[in-house]
Amino acid sequence: MIELRPASVADVPALMMLWEVAAENDSRPSDSSAKVEALIARDPDACTVAVTAEGRVVGSLISGWDGWRAHLYRLAVHPDVRRQGLARRLLAHAETRLVALGAGRIDAMVLEDNDLGQQLWKSSGYAPQPDWRRWVRPVG
Ligand SMILES: CC(C)(COP(=O)(O)OP(=O)(O)OC[C@H]1O[C@@H](n2cnc3c(N)ncnc32)[C@H](O)[C@@H]1OP(=O)(O)O)[C@@H](O)C(=O)NCCC(=O)NCCS
Repeated sequence: MIELRPASVADVPALMMLWEVAAENDSRPSDSSAKVEALIARDPDACTVAVTAEGRVVGSLISGWDGWRAHLYRLAVHPDVRRQGLARRLLAHAETRLVALGAGRIDAMVLEDNDLGQQLWKSSGYAPQPDWRRWVRPVG
């Protein structure tokens, strides 16, 4: 049985290893343990992990709520346990949390060539917004 629960600081090394092998890693800032620890300190429920009965972290999803908008990040499921509905569970869990916090719409960044990710988002009711592009400037 795989359990979903908020990530703790003790999970951060396992999360970093999971993201190395299982997450969408192109065209984005690199992860750091310190940043994940800061996220957990700021919002202890933002990062959900999926953990096996043996204590192995095999999935993750960050649901960010800034008081105005709701965003999803770092949806990743380890290749060993894919296609068993874990991403759907993580997503349902995050959507429940974000709606309870006041979200009226939820978004996710998806790389144009990530066919696997696109299948998941499409089948979960998400669609691209063709009239908007994200504009960014690195600052840190
Ligand atoms: C995308 C990802 C999170 C899916 O995780 P998962 O636990 O295997 O997904 P689920 O089993 O919950 O599948 C949910 C739905 O997504 C779609 N899907 C998932 N994997 C798929 C595949 N290999 N081929 C086609 N559709 C797929 C299907 O619609 C599936 O529903 P179904 O099984 O009823 O057909 C996982 O493959 C992953 O971690 N990929 C790398 C990281 C990534 O791209 N994350 C998304 C960032 S935008």
